[in-house]
Amino acid sequence: MTSDHDLKLVAPFSPTILKATMPDGMVERLNARIDDLLGRQDEVAARDWSAHLAGVVSTEMRFTDVIREMSEVTDFLYDVARTYAYRCENALMHYGDYERTEELADKTLRIQIKEGWVNDMVAGDYNPAHFHQGCLFSSVGYLRVPPDYEAEFQADKARQNTAGCLQFIDSRSAVGVRNLFVVKPAVGEFYLWPSWMLHCVYPFRSPGVRRSFAVNLSLA
Ligand SMILES: [Fe+2]
Repeated sequence: MTSDHDLKLVAPFSPTILKATMPDGMVERLNARIDDLLGRQDEVAARDWSAHLAGVVSTEMRFTDVIREMSEVTDFLYDVARTYAYRCENALMHYGDYERTEELADKTLRIQIKEGWVNDMVAGDYNPAHFHQGCLFSSVGYLRVPPDYEAEFQADKARQNTAGCLQFIDSRSAVGVRNLFVVKPAVGEFYLWPSWMLHCVYPFRSPGVRRSFAVNLSLA
Protein backbone atom coordinates (compact mmCIF):
# COMPACT_ATOMS: atom_id res chain seq x y z
CA MET A 1 0.00 0.00 0.00
CA THR A 2 1.44 3.37 -0.93
CA SER A 3 -1.07 5.76 0.65
CA ASP A 4 -1.01 4.58 4.25
CA HIS A 5 0.85 7.69 5.47
CA ASP A 6 3.79 5.51 6.51
CA LEU A 7 1.61 4.56 9.45
CA LYS A 8 2.95 2.13 12.02
CA LEU A 9 1.55 0.97 15.33
CA VAL A 10 3.75 0.34 18.32
CA ALA A 11 2.65 -1.33 21.54
CA PRO A 12 5.38 -0.47 24.04
CA PHE A 13 3.46 -1.45 27.12
CA SER A 14 3.05 -4.82 28.72
CA PRO A 15 1.27 -7.25 28.89
CA THR A 16 2.05 -9.56 26.00
CA ILE A 17 1.08 -13.22 26.27
CA LEU A 18 3.02 -16.06 24.66
CA LYS A 19 1.29 -19.21 23.43
CA ALA A 20 3.30 -22.29 22.46
CA THR A 21 2.90 -26.04 22.00
CA MET A 22 4.95 -28.38 24.17
CA PRO A 23 7.15 -30.92 22.33
CA ASP A 24 5.80 -34.39 21.54
CA GLY A 25 6.14 -36.77 24.45
CA MET A 26 6.81 -34.10 27.07
CA VAL A 27 3.20 -34.14 28.28
CA GLU A 28 3.26 -37.95 28.64
CA ARG A 29 6.55 -37.92 30.52
CA LEU A 30 5.44 -35.12 32.84
CA ASN A 31 2.19 -36.94 33.56
CA ALA A 32 4.08 -40.15 34.31
CA ARG A 33 6.35 -38.37 36.82
CA ILE A 34 3.40 -36.61 38.46
CA ASP A 35 1.28 -39.77 38.65
CA ASP A 36 4.22 -41.56 40.24
CA LEU A 37 4.66 -38.83 42.88
CA LEU A 38 0.93 -38.66 43.59
CA GLY A 39 0.92 -42.40 44.22
CA ARG A 40 3.26 -41.94 47.18
CA GLN A 41 1.77 -40.39 50.31
CA ASP A 42 5.13 -39.28 51.69
CA GLU A 43 5.87 -37.33 48.49
CA VAL A 44 2.40 -35.78 48.42
CA ALA A 45 2.72 -34.62 52.04
CA ALA A 46 6.29 -33.35 51.64
CA ARG A 47 5.50 -31.48 48.43
CA ASP A 48 2.26 -29.80 49.49
CA TRP A 49 2.52 -26.25 48.13
CA SER A 50 -1.00 -25.04 48.91
CA ALA A 51 0.11 -22.66 51.69
CA HIS A 52 2.01 -20.65 49.06
CA LEU A 53 -0.80 -20.45 46.52
CA ALA A 54 -4.16 -18.72 46.20
CA GLY A 55 -6.13 -21.60 44.76
CA VAL A 56 -8.94 -23.70 46.16
CA VAL A 57 -7.36 -26.65 44.42
CA SER A 58 -7.33 -30.32 45.47
CA THR A 59 -3.63 -30.91 44.89
CA GLU A 60 -0.96 -28.22 44.65
CA MET A 61 2.38 -30.00 44.66
CA ARG A 62 5.84 -28.41 44.56
CA PHE A 63 7.63 -29.67 41.48
CA THR A 64 10.65 -27.39 40.99
CA ASP A 65 13.25 -30.11 41.53
CA VAL A 66 11.58 -32.48 39.06
CA ILE A 67 11.39 -29.77 36.40
CA ARG A 68 15.10 -29.05 36.89
CA GLU A 69 15.89 -32.76 36.46
CA MET A 70 13.92 -33.06 33.20
CA SER A 71 16.16 -31.45 30.60
CA GLU A 72 13.48 -31.52 27.91
CA VAL A 73 11.31 -29.36 30.21
CA THR A 74 14.06 -26.92 31.17
CA ASP A 75 15.19 -26.66 27.54
CA PHE A 76 11.63 -25.88 26.49
CA LEU A 77 11.17 -23.28 29.25
CA TYR A 78 14.49 -21.58 28.51
CA ASP A 79 13.70 -21.50 24.82
CA VAL A 80 10.20 -20.03 25.04
CA ALA A 81 11.07 -17.52 27.78
CA ARG A 82 14.14 -16.29 25.89
CA THR A 83 12.19 -16.02 22.66
CA TYR A 84 9.42 -14.15 24.47
CA ALA A 85 11.91 -11.67 25.93
CA TYR A 86 13.70 -11.15 22.59
CA ARG A 87 10.57 -10.82 20.51
CA CYS A 88 9.04 -8.30 22.91
CA GLU A 89 12.27 -6.34 22.81
CA ASN A 90 12.45 -6.52 19.02
CA ALA A 91 8.81 -5.49 18.69
CA LEU A 92 9.52 -2.44 20.78
CA MET A 93 12.47 -1.47 18.56
CA HIS A 94 10.80 -2.40 15.27
CA TYR A 95 7.27 -1.10 15.71
CA GLY A 96 5.27 -4.16 16.54
CA ASP A 97 7.09 -6.76 14.44
CA TYR A 98 6.85 -9.70 16.84
CA GLU A 99 8.20 -12.19 14.31
CA ARG A 100 11.73 -10.79 14.10
CA THR A 101 14.26 -13.09 15.70
CA GLU A 102 17.54 -12.23 13.97
CA GLU A 103 18.96 -10.60 17.10
CA LEU A 104 18.52 -13.87 19.00
CA ALA A 105 21.93 -15.26 18.04
CA ASP A 106 23.80 -12.40 19.68
CA LYS A 107 21.94 -12.44 22.97
CA THR A 108 23.00 -14.20 26.11
CA LEU A 109 19.93 -13.73 28.27
CA ARG A 110 19.82 -16.35 30.96
CA ILE A 111 16.47 -17.60 32.19
CA GLN A 112 16.11 -18.71 35.79
CA ILE A 113 13.51 -21.22 36.93
CA LYS A 114 12.24 -19.92 40.29
CA GLU A 115 9.42 -22.27 41.36
CA GLY A 116 7.32 -24.86 39.66
CA TRP A 117 4.28 -26.73 40.89
CA VAL A 118 1.48 -29.02 39.74
CA ASN A 119 -2.20 -28.16 40.00
CA ASP A 120 -4.63 -31.07 39.96
CA MET A 121 -8.13 -29.59 39.97
CA VAL A 122 -11.38 -31.53 40.33
CA ALA A 123 -15.01 -30.44 40.00
CA GLY A 124 -15.66 -27.32 42.07
CA ASP A 125 -12.01 -26.31 42.50
CA TYR A 126 -11.11 -22.78 41.44
CA ASN A 127 -8.33 -20.21 41.63
CA PRO A 128 -9.35 -16.67 42.63
CA ALA A 129 -7.81 -13.62 40.92
CA HIS A 130 -4.16 -13.34 41.87
CA PHE A 131 -0.69 -12.57 40.52
CA HIS A 132 2.73 -14.11 41.15
CA GLN A 133 5.43 -12.40 43.17
CA GLY A 134 9.22 -12.76 43.16
CA CYS A 135 9.57 -13.46 39.43
CA LEU A 136 9.43 -11.79 36.03
CA PHE A 137 7.37 -14.29 34.04
CA SER A 138 4.71 -16.80 35.01
CA SER A 139 3.68 -19.72 32.86
CA VAL A 140 1.36 -22.71 32.65
CA GLY A 141 1.29 -25.91 30.59
CA TYR A 142 -1.81 -28.08 30.31
CA LEU A 143 -1.32 -31.80 30.90
CA ARG A 144 -4.80 -33.29 31.34
CA VAL A 145 -8.46 -32.30 31.08
CA PRO A 146 -11.51 -34.30 32.25
CA PRO A 147 -12.90 -36.65 29.56
CA ASP A 148 -16.25 -34.78 29.40
CA TYR A 149 -14.74 -31.31 29.64
CA GLU A 150 -15.29 -30.39 25.99
CA ALA A 151 -19.02 -31.21 26.24
CA GLU A 152 -19.29 -29.20 29.45
CA PHE A 153 -17.51 -26.25 27.86
CA GLN A 154 -19.74 -26.34 24.79
CA ALA A 155 -22.87 -26.44 26.98
CA ASP A 156 -21.70 -23.47 29.09
CA LYS A 157 -24.59 -21.02 28.87
CA ALA A 158 -22.62 -18.01 30.04
CA ARG A 159 -22.19 -15.15 27.57
CA GLN A 160 -18.53 -15.98 27.48
CA ASN A 161 -17.69 -19.62 28.13
CA THR A 162 -15.44 -19.89 31.13
CA ALA A 163 -15.92 -23.35 32.70
CA GLY A 164 -12.48 -24.63 33.66
CA CYS A 165 -10.80 -21.71 31.90
CA LEU A 166 -7.90 -19.48 32.80
CA GLN A 167 -8.78 -15.80 32.52
CA PHE A 168 -6.37 -12.86 32.38
CA ILE A 169 -7.57 -9.50 33.71
CA ASP A 170 -6.30 -6.05 32.74
CA SER A 171 -8.64 -3.13 33.34
CA ARG A 172 -7.06 -0.58 31.00
CA SER A 173 -9.42 0.11 28.10
CA ALA A 174 -8.43 1.01 24.56
CA VAL A 175 -9.65 0.43 21.02
CA GLY A 176 -8.70 -3.08 19.95
CA VAL A 177 -7.75 -4.12 23.48
CA ARG A 178 -9.58 -6.57 25.67
CA ASN A 179 -9.93 -6.26 29.42
CA LEU A 180 -10.49 -10.00 29.84
CA PHE A 181 -8.74 -12.74 27.89
CA VAL A 182 -9.95 -16.32 28.30
CA VAL A 183 -7.75 -19.37 27.75
CA LYS A 184 -9.47 -22.73 27.40
CA PRO A 185 -7.18 -25.50 28.68
CA ALA A 186 -6.00 -27.85 25.93
CA VAL A 187 -3.51 -30.64 26.55
CA GLY A 188 -0.07 -29.71 25.21
CA GLU A 189 -0.65 -25.96 25.13
CA PHE A 190 1.56 -23.59 27.09
CA TYR A 191 1.23 -19.89 28.01
CA LEU A 192 3.66 -17.37 29.48
CA TRP A 193 2.92 -13.81 30.68
CA PRO A 194 4.29 -10.99 32.85
CA SER A 195 4.02 -12.21 36.42
CA TRP A 196 2.21 -9.12 37.71
CA MET A 197 -0.83 -9.75 35.49
CA LEU A 198 -3.96 -10.73 37.36
CA HIS A 199 -5.50 -14.07 36.44
CA CYS A 200 -7.99 -16.58 37.78
CA VAL A 201 -9.27 -20.08 36.98
CA TYR A 202 -12.99 -20.87 36.90
CA PRO A 203 -14.50 -24.09 38.27
CA PHE A 204 -15.89 -26.91 36.16
CA ARG A 205 -18.32 -29.76 36.94
CA SER A 206 -17.08 -32.75 34.95
CA PRO A 207 -15.65 -35.73 36.83
CA GLY A 208 -11.93 -36.24 36.40
CA VAL A 209 -8.80 -34.17 36.75
CA ARG A 210 -7.77 -30.92 35.10
CA ARG A 211 -3.97 -30.96 35.41
CA SER A 212 -1.52 -28.16 34.72
CA PHE A 213 2.01 -27.34 35.75
CA ALA A 214 2.95 -23.77 36.54
CA VAL A 215 6.42 -22.25 36.55
CA ASN A 216 7.67 -18.85 37.71
CA LEU A 217 10.69 -17.61 35.78
CA SER A 218 13.13 -14.76 36.02
CA LEU A 219 16.17 -13.39 34.23
CA ALA A 220 19.45 -14.40 35.84
FE1 LIG B 1 -1.47 -18.20 39.02
